[in-house]
Amino acid sequence: MALAPVVDIHTHMYPPEYISILSSRDTIPLVRTFPSSPDPRLILLESEIPSLERALADPSAPLPGRPLTKHFTSLPAKLSFMSHHNITTSVLSLANPWLDFLPADTAGATAEQINTSFETMCSSTNTAATTNTTTPQPPKLFFFGTLPLTAPPPTILASITHLTTLPHCRGIILGTGGLATHQGLDDPSLLPIFHALAASSLPIFLHPHYGLPHSVFGTGAYGHVLPLALGFPMETTIAVARMFLAGVFDEVRGLRMVLAHAGGTLPFLAGRIESCVVHDAALVGKAGGWEGRRSVWEVLREQVYLDAVIYSEVGLKAAVEAAGGADRLMFGTDHPFFPPVGEKAGEAEEGEWESVRLNVEAVNKALGEGSEEAALVMGGNAVRVLKLY
Ligand code: URA
Ligand code: ZN
Repeated sequence: MALAPVVDIHTHMYPPEYISILSSRDTIPLVRTFPSSPDPRLILLESEIPSLERALADPSAPLPGRPLTKHFTSLPAKLSFMSHHNITTSVLSLANPWLDFLPADTAGATAEQINTSFETMCSSTNTAATTNTTTPQPPKLFFFGTLPLTAPPPTILASITHLTTLPHCRGIILGTGGLATHQGLDDPSLLPIFHALAASSLPIFLHPHYGLPHSVFGTGAYGHVLPLALGFPMETTIAVARMFLAGVFDEVRGLRMVLAHAGGTLPFLAGRIESCVVHDAALVGKAGGWEGRRSVWEVLREQVYLDAVIYSEVGLKAAVEAAGGADRLMFGTDHPFFPPVGEKAGEAEEGEWESVRLNVEAVNKALGEGSEEAALVMGGNAVRVLKLY
């Protein structure tokens, strides 16, 4: 019997054309070379600006951001990582902040270039994998496309149409900012985009980038811990709560979303959101308001899937409960973020990444190693939901 596939639905890359754009920039996101570092540095987050400024002023200051290793850009490095972690198939996505910062007049052409680049990576890899063996192999790569959200809506719609012509595209990756005006995902101007995605059966993989205002994290030297561990999940939670409150899910019933990091804090806070809604006199009494609206729980179980990038059994169990069953969670790694560091940095090429091991262990502990439910989360659900093979 063939082994059950392992599918990684949360795994990023920056194609070369994207790195060229970042290398030409003076404000975040950007790529900079420092004399004391063998790898260029990738500086993405608002919380990294103070350390960038210190490093630019003082060559002996700690390096800002993270090293731009080949894991971010190289297809052989991605395939080698997959092989070392027994991953059958990866659904690649451009990493944050996608095309959110591009001028309106270039965003459409850049999206077309980058989406085509992902399609070429997938098709060339899958073709090579099948021509080099006599036994049939499942395809190794698919991808989530990227939209030119700063461009005028007709350009965004044209980009969706383009994605429907790319055979390995299985949805889109989306941040929480919304259109050029950055009014978030409850902006009514986004509804035609959501309708077009639903009509094209392209699910949204919702991923954070902006976090919370940097001031809430204080001035302690705590590295990336607070923005990544807390800012990212709260951002996702707030974005989905706003879509829910605005009625986006009711308006676009065909919309499907896969939420990064097991839905941020939604599994834990959905009950509180629901309670705050039904106890809010302004909402309950509002004309055309809450009559007939579905609850947060119903929306989660009917239109939402969660990735399983949560690193603990406790969080994974909550995610399964909130999503309505183990058939709505999908394994991910967040590669190439969270590589081994310090003494273990040498293990990044050949060894097992602890960040991956924690997510695999969470699934096995929560659902039972070897169980049917664990196999669904590790790959079966992605194959079914994203129609991989
Ligand atoms: N994971 C991501 O996907 N992006 C980041 O910036 C950090 C972690
Ligand atoms: Zn990610």
